[in-house]
Amino acid sequence: GISIAPLRKETGDVTYDPGFMNTANTKSSITYIDGDEGILRYRGYPIEQLAEHSSYLEVAYLLANGELPTQGQLDNFVSSVERRTLLDERFKSLFDGFPRDAHPMAVMQAGVSALSTFYQDSLDPFDEDQVRLSSYRLLAKVPTMAAYAYRVSKGHALLYPDNRLSLIENFLRLTFGFPVEEYIADPVVVRALEQLLILHADHEQNCSASAVRLVGSAQANLFTSISAGIGALSGPAHGGANAAVMEMLDEINERGMDPRDFMERVKNKEDGIRLMGFGHRVYKNYDPRAKIVKKIADDVLERLGIQDERLDLAMKLEEIALNDDYFVERKLYPNVDFYTGIIYKAMGFPTQMFTVLFAIGRMPGWIAQWNEMIHDPETKIGRPRQIYTGQPLREYAPMQART
Ligand code: ACO
Repeated sequence: GISIAPLRKETGDVTYDPGFMNTANTKSSITYIDGDEGILRYRGYPIEQLAEHSSYLEVAYLLANGELPTQGQLDNFVSSVERRTLLDERFKSLFDGFPRDAHPMAVMQAGVSALSTFYQDSLDPFDEDQVRLSSYRLLAKVPTMAAYAYRVSKGHALLYPDNRLSLIENFLRLTFGFPVEEYIADPVVVRALEQLLILHADHEQNCSASAVRLVGSAQANLFTSISAGIGALSGPAHGGANAAVMEMLDEINERGMDPRDFMERVKNKEDGIRLMGFGHRVYKNYDPRAKIVKKIADDVLERLGIQDERLDLAMKLEEIALNDDYFVERKLYPNVDFYTGIIYKAMGFPTQMFTVLFAIGRMPGWIAQWNEMIHDPETKIGRPRQIYTGQPLREYAPMQART
């Protein structure tokens, strides 16, 4: 049920709801989730159908505009994005300035924030044409930045985008290609990455989308708002979980731990450890994205001829969880992140890049959420209340009177 919070300025009454468990901050027509049934739809279309038939940029168009594009609209949209992948030359000095071991999420967040210094003419949140231009720039340049963040960490030369390629092929070439050889992305990898980006494209009012909306509600520009979203996504309780899953699997393997013993430690909450990639604030059922990801993992590993013992270990942990009261009672199931890392590894990405890939995927969602927020006449600056638990009024004590 929905109840609208009454305005109780006179009494100072507030609703105490840590983590916004029951508080809707907005109405939204973008993404529908039914957490009990494990349903996810973008603009009414089931995620399963979009992952199977659609493309990343078509989904970006759908999220932004509310309808699937005609061929002409899609061609226009794709070319508006794909021709904007180049970064201003000065970005090179920005990237060069970071230490080699800088986390690529931090580099990307800085890069997106820096976009607002390069496009100062297009920062007005209410200028629709400029905002559209900014969203093309974000969709196009963020993959380039992600690839650069990776290459800087390796000490490899930066390549220029080749805009004859699709956005995803371009990104893979910028990441893994070398200047002296032609790089041809494996079509299996391209399609799998495309599907993973679609699965990550939006997830209604999650932590990072809420961060984007909150910053945007102060009428900060799109680039600045989205850089806040990247910051939120980097946390291990949110997008950072995909990397944390891989670290967990590696640790279990390296220590030669029995998966059952590890699960006992999780259940006993030893050192506060959790089964990473499990559980979700909204899904109290199998995350519909995780089902698709698991299938992609099987396909990609098989078609690339890769055997990864981590896939077997992950499946073993899932099997234990699905048959254990602790997890069943708490309705803890695999979330989208449980199997993604295994695919990213098979594609050649280091663990540090996993959350960056999530951020590329989530870009269309953040843009759509920000736009919906900025055009909603009911939007107010986000400003939660608090319940004050500190000292009552007291007198300032001079230094000599303090003990
Ligand atoms: N492993 C073990 N126990 C868990 C897990 C887990 N992964 N997740 C929740 N629990 C337990 C909690 O300990 C708690 O048990 P208790 O009632 O005995 O104290 C109960 O389940 C409820 O957990 P909360 O933390 O209250 O649930 P909340 O909705 O706040 O947390 C979250 C959701 C953060 C995703 C949590 O499940 C978690 O930490 N999962 C691991 C990290 C992860 O995979 N994050 C990715 C989320 S999806 C995404 O961002 C794309």
